[in-house]
Amino acid sequence: MALDLTKYVSSIPDYPEKGIIFRDISPLMANGEAYKQATAQIVQFARDKGVQMIVGPEARGFIVGCPVAYELGVGFAPARKKGKLPRETVKATYTLEYGTAELYMHKDAVKPGQHVLVTDDLLATGGTIGATIDLVEQLGGIVVGCAFIIELDALKGHEKIKDYDVLTLMHY
Ligand code: PRP
Ligand code: ADE
Repeated sequence: MALDLTKYVSSIPDYPEKGIIFRDISPLMANGEAYKQATAQIVQFARDKGVQMIVGPEARGFIVGCPVAYELGVGFAPARKKGKLPRETVKATYTLEYGTAELYMHKDAVKPGQHVLVTDDLLATGGTIGATIDLVEQLGGIVVGCAFIIELDALKGHEKIKDYDVLTLMHY
């Protein structure tokens, strides 16, 4: 029987700043059945779209994207924070619910025309995923979908990616 994944998300008020309710997926990852179920749902979505490559932003996008890539037998490319990638990169700037930042990808991480699924644990304002999509598209990749475990509806990140197909497992 399917698990209720909401039971594996903990909500921490006033972290990392007053007024933010932090939605923590680490209990979900810590439970093998729950992690497998979440991964399987994203794998199905990706398979239906003929995904050839997964891209996820540091750090929690890796947790979601890597098992999906492994299960599909396709590659995974990280979008990383400043100063982490050793070769030539492309860059995108973005705003967070709590701060601003830059993301980078290696210039050869995605091939032109490749069908890409972008993954992350959580969609809040959409800044991170918007920057990740921007990077994939700078490299000539085609974003065929975005997948999240959680979406924070009040922050309206969905509006930033309304032109893309989105799978979200839980809404808050
Ligand atoms: C969190 C989360 C998403 C992003 C969502 O990452 O994992 O990537 O914020 O927020 P947004 O939709 O407003 O951009 P964070 O930048 O805290 O980094 P981490 O994954 O390294 O913890
Ligand atoms: N990233 C941005 N906002 C977040 C939140 N409220 N909980 C967990 N991760 C986040």
